[in-house]
Amino acid sequence: MMINKVLTVIGARPQFIKAAAVSRALQKENIAEIIVHTGQHFDSNMSKIFFDEMDIPKPAYNLDIHSLSHGAMTGRMIEEIEKILKVELPDIVLVYGDTNSTLAGALAAQKLHIPIAHIEAGLRSFNLKMPEEVNRILTDRISSYLFCPTDKAIENLKTEGFENYPFTILKSGDVMQDAALYYEKVSDQQSTIIKDLKLEKSKFILCTLHRQENTDNRERLLNIINAYNELSKDFKIILPLHPRTQKIIKESLINLDFDIIDPVGYFDMIQLIKNSEFIITDSGGLQKEAFFFKKYCITTRDETEWVELVENGFNVVVGANKEKIILEVQKVSQKTANFDMDLYGNGKASENIVKNLLA
Ligand code: UD1
Ligand code: UDP
Repeated sequence: MMINKVLTVIGARPQFIKAAAVSRALQKENIAEIIVHTGQHFDSNMSKIFFDEMDIPKPAYNLDIHSLSHGAMTGRMIEEIEKILKVELPDIVLVYGDTNSTLAGALAAQKLHIPIAHIEAGLRSFNLKMPEEVNRILTDRISSYLFCPTDKAIENLKTEGFENYPFTILKSGDVMQDAALYYEKVSDQQSTIIKDLKLEKSKFILCTLHRQENTDNRERLLNIINAYNELSKDFKIILPLHPRTQKIIKESLINLDFDIIDPVGYFDMIQLIKNSEFIITDSGGLQKEAFFFKKYCITTRDETEWVELVENGFNVVVGANKEKIILEVQKVSQKTANFDMDLYGNGKASENIVKNLLA
């Protein structure tokens, strides 16, 4: 299609990383991009650091909407994004992934009949209790372009009958791999986190923990934290902890037997991934990044959207089960897998997306 102006709606940490890759591809084609930051993530180490490090174009608008319930947050975002769309009149709206910012951007655009491109379309956990699952299903259903990262994502859309709709459904690959490949070198040059934290290569486990289904369920949260406490007797645990989880742990007086660190920027994160022994996480993005940097991943969720990682033996899904987490940790050292597989497009996803938008 003829595109002169793109409007991108982002608001949460993983979206900054994804948008960094696509913004660069848009710039190469001289397409004007207006960035709307909803404000969903707002701490400097959850937002500003990514724009600064990764040269993401400065948002033209920051809506400063955050720390609200799902309905209030999404509703206020829709209202404000609609006002901006009426002024900017973009040819297309880009949204990423499955956060409340994603859904708000998509709903505001579709009501004004502005086509939507959904990047990271077609993923499913089949768990409707996850806010992310609701956001992604609804966004897919009203998007004109569905850029799927994997074969499984394409298959999910076919199963749901998406072929019957006048949508463009394409396997683009995963833009997070574009980012990982592009920023690895500069991270190698600039990050000092390994030295600063006095870490030794392959001598620590990198962990993250922030998903609502784990943090807002005391039993699940305690199971995971207790697994980490137990593991900390034998392993160095590096846990850059999302503010959501930091607040809950503090408020509920949950005991940690090791020191956490605050969230880190992407360059530091790449070094932590590359130098870790393996990863334990409930993050969506980090499961893939573990694979990009050839690390095994133990996933503390009941299901994953990235099933190809599990099928090929790179990832194991253990839920919030203390015993299972510890058992899988014991198994990791015996594992041997060949990580040299092209599951996510090998760094060409953003280019594919922009090429197909312009076709
Ligand atoms: C959101 C996404 C989730 C994604 C995650 C990425 C939704 C429904 N969820 O979850 O899919 O995996 O982002 O990290 O959109 N907070 C701060 N400082 C910040 C950001 C958040 O203190 O910079 C606090 C908020 O005040 C709030 C809590 O963290 O109390 C949760 O934030 P919210 O944006 O609602 O959801 P996330 O858990 O970040
Ligand atoms: N990340 C980061 N610093 C951190 C934790 C995560 O830069 O302290 C990056 C991580 O490498 C990945 C992205 O943030 O690129 C994943 O975001 P998150 O886990 O918050 O969200 P999800 O992917 O689960 O939606």
